[in-house]
Amino acid sequence: MITEEKVLEALKNVEDPELHRSVVELNMVRNIRIENDNVELDIILTIQGCPLKVKIQEDVENAIKELGAKEVVVHFGSMTDEERAQLSAKLRGGQPQQQSELSPLLRPESKTQFIAITSGKGGVGKSTVTVNLATALARKGKKVGIIDADIYGFSVPDMMGINRIPVVIDNTVIPIEQFGVKVMSMGFFVEDNSPIIWRGPMLGKMLRNFFTEVHWEDLDYMLLDLPPGTGDVALDVHQMIPQSKEIIVTTPHPTAAFVASRAGQMAIKTNHEILGVVENMSYYVNKDGEHDPIFGSGGGEKLAETLNTEVLAEIPIGQPSDKSEAPSIYAESEFIGKVYMDLADKIISKCK
Ligand SMILES: Nc1ncnc2c1ncn2[C@@H]1O[C@H](COP(=O)(O)OP(=O)(O)O)[C@@H](O)[C@H]1O
Ligand SMILES: [Mg+2]
Repeated sequence: MITEEKVLEALKNVEDPELHRSVVELNMVRNIRIENDNVELDIILTIQGCPLKVKIQEDVENAIKELGAKEVVVHFGSMTDEERAQLSAKLRGGQPQQQSELSPLLRPESKTQFIAITSGKGGVGKSTVTVNLATALARKGKKVGIIDADIYGFSVPDMMGINRIPVVIDNTVIPIEQFGVKVMSMGFFVEDNSPIIWRGPMLGKMLRNFFTEVHWEDLDYMLLDLPPGTGDVALDVHQMIPQSKEIIVTTPHPTAAFVASRAGQMAIKTNHEILGVVENMSYYVNKDGEHDPIFGSGGGEKLAETLNTEVLAEIPIGQPSDKSEAPSIYAESEFIGKVYMDLADKIISKCK
């Protein structure tokens, strides 16, 4: 005979596809009614019009039919604000949400390695390096997140070919996962690419929210794509994440390297460990297979010397091939994709 207990037991194996927790644990199952071999029940979704409703319905029906039910009728409802608040507290491990609360990622016992990607100026490939290094680390089986902290110049979603926006439950945001990398970006919260005007204190708050109000789960690495230069956001990151390490991106032109050294000096002043320099757009492989240094040369080496560190990678000029799955992600099989895999190896061994 089918009983309410059996139905609940069976539904323990049905997960919410976005939250990766059982619908029973998330308190989404209500009003189980059983008549002979027919079961009717309510499933309360986190948000109205949840895009994954069909999947949940299928999983619930199958689980109950396995108990021997002939007919299963699922009614959908959505959570009240109060219920959403309870759920988001549950996702945070029962901790009430407080402004001053330290995200688990930032607590002293956290095993997450923070790596800020910085540069002296824009356009040198900071975001390109961030998304490709993150993807390479994920290809190596690491759990990786990106915070696109370039609040005005966010570009990570487009570069990774993300065209969804995250689900928000109460005040908890579920990051978007792309190529195994969890991503959070200001770009998700801006309509039709309209410019945002943030003032200093707002910037810091925004960045803080990216930690406290986002459900990150355990991560091995969190990459931060910082705005260029040594402005407010960079300072906020230095203060908020004192344990963060840094990669400095430059082009090979000596002037670019000179400008980049300012970002490095700031890392040194704030006691952030510099992992090394990535020289991007290092050379162009011409049709004879020769390395053509069209943007100058020696900048990476010079910068590494100034900052008493090393050049971790020299990335040539080239667009992702047609094997690539997103506008700015190089496929693992192409040359630049391999350069990023080598960079990932270096980062893993330097962070041990
Ligand atoms: N190695 C490279 N070869 C060719 N184009 C590149 C390379 N690295 C970056 N780019 C391109 O240069 C532009 C600036 O890169 P981006 O990563 O957005 O720089 P930043 O984040 O420092 O402003 C982008 O259009 C990007 O696609
Ligand atoms: Mg950028």
